[in-house]
Amino acid sequence: MKNILITGGAGFIGSHVVRLFVTKYPSYNIINLDALTYAGNLENLKDIDQSPNYTFEKVNLLDVAGLSSVFERHNITDVIHLAAESHVDRSIESPLDFVHTNIVGTVNLLNIAKTKWGADFSKHLFYHISTDEVYGALGAEGLFTETTPYHPNSPYSASKAASDHFVRAYAETYHIRTIISNCSNNYGPFHFPEKLIPLFINNIIHKKPLPVYGDGLYTRDWLFVKDHATAIDVIFHNGKIDDTYNIGGFNEWKNIDLVKILCKLMDEKLGRQAGESEELITYVKDRPGHDRRYAIDATKLNKELGWAPSVTFEQGLAQTIDWYLENTTWLSNVTSGAYQNYYSSMYSNR
Ligand code: NAD
Ligand code: DAU
Repeated sequence: MKNILITGGAGFIGSHVVRLFVTKYPSYNIINLDALTYAGNLENLKDIDQSPNYTFEKVNLLDVAGLSSVFERHNITDVIHLAAESHVDRSIESPLDFVHTNIVGTVNLLNIAKTKWGADFSKHLFYHISTDEVYGALGAEGLFTETTPYHPNSPYSASKAASDHFVRAYAETYHIRTIISNCSNNYGPFHFPEKLIPLFINNIIHKKPLPVYGDGLYTRDWLFVKDHATAIDVIFHNGKIDDTYNIGGFNEWKNIDLVKILCKLMDEKLGRQAGESEELITYVKDRPGHDRRYAIDATKLNKELGWAPSVTFEQGLAQTIDWYLENTTWLSNVTSGAYQNYYSSMYSNR
């Protein structure tokens, strides 16, 4: 019997992972632990939240007694750890929030797992979900592999790198069985509109300026979120213990090229004139310490575990746009209230 604790399950990627595990594995109990910060939203899970194998626990990673109680009450056998502060721009404004949740929170979880599983680690797995940003920035050539040295450049990526190091250290020192995966930029349904793609979709809908940082020639490697979830499934079940896997779809885009495609697709879907949304593009002040290029080499995952993305970028982007246009209530709920304050404080001085 598996009782799997998925942390951050009310967030963007976590909600897709929870949905996949709850529906695909009826014999597993899935316990979703989430503090419901601004990024956590139980609306993301309303289609599966009545499933008999699903439970939600509103607990903060900094609440050690709360974590311990969840482990105890649900007899947790495995952890898939996604909960984190995840937005680079916020990390530049408030680095300590990232130290607390991403580093201290991860160590709290590791400590509880060590204590509860200490008698016999062989039946348990601590799977830590991380990012390609820990590797730093690439030049024009090359890809991040699993052996690329860590070189984080933002408070966010530094906090994720630290959490990865703690996971590895707990495997080495205490023999907890761990796996780490480092994924490239995700996109898809339920993505909070502070990140590039959903923010620009929302702004195009409302004919608001599209704030492109710097020269717009920064490059990201985009993966459809449901493909990240299937990679997590494959790695959780078949990954080599104490190993790491890069996850990505060999799908690099310069920001400005991606934004232009988004504008074109949105004009078509909204019945607007060709070129109308492109006129909203506004070059603004750059992000400090902005990493020039990320690109993931996911060969190991493909060769060893047979995983590959299921959709092309064109298909994934079209599905994503359709989802946002069909879920305007979700979008207006998450962009009301505190989001307005965030938006004006983050963008008014650019
Ligand atoms: P997200 O911001 O959408 O969701 C994070 C979730 O964690 C939210 O539900 C939030 O309520 C919860 N959370 C935050 N602080 C918490 C705390 N102290 N205690 C308990 N819960 C807390 O993030 P996401 O984009 O879904 O990312 C999930 C994970 O995947 C993160 O670890 C992130 O570093 C990693 N990742 C993200 C991407 C990406 O493109 N979004 C790519 C690679 C890796
Ligand atoms: O690479 C994986 C990472 O991808 C994850 O670990 C992070 O959690 C996730 O947020 C994401 O980080 P990025 O910083 O790459 O994503 P973001 O959507 O914030 O920005 C993507 C690119 O778009 C980046 O070059 C900055 C640029 N950008 C972003 C915003 C929000 C703009 O030009 N304008 C914007 O308004």
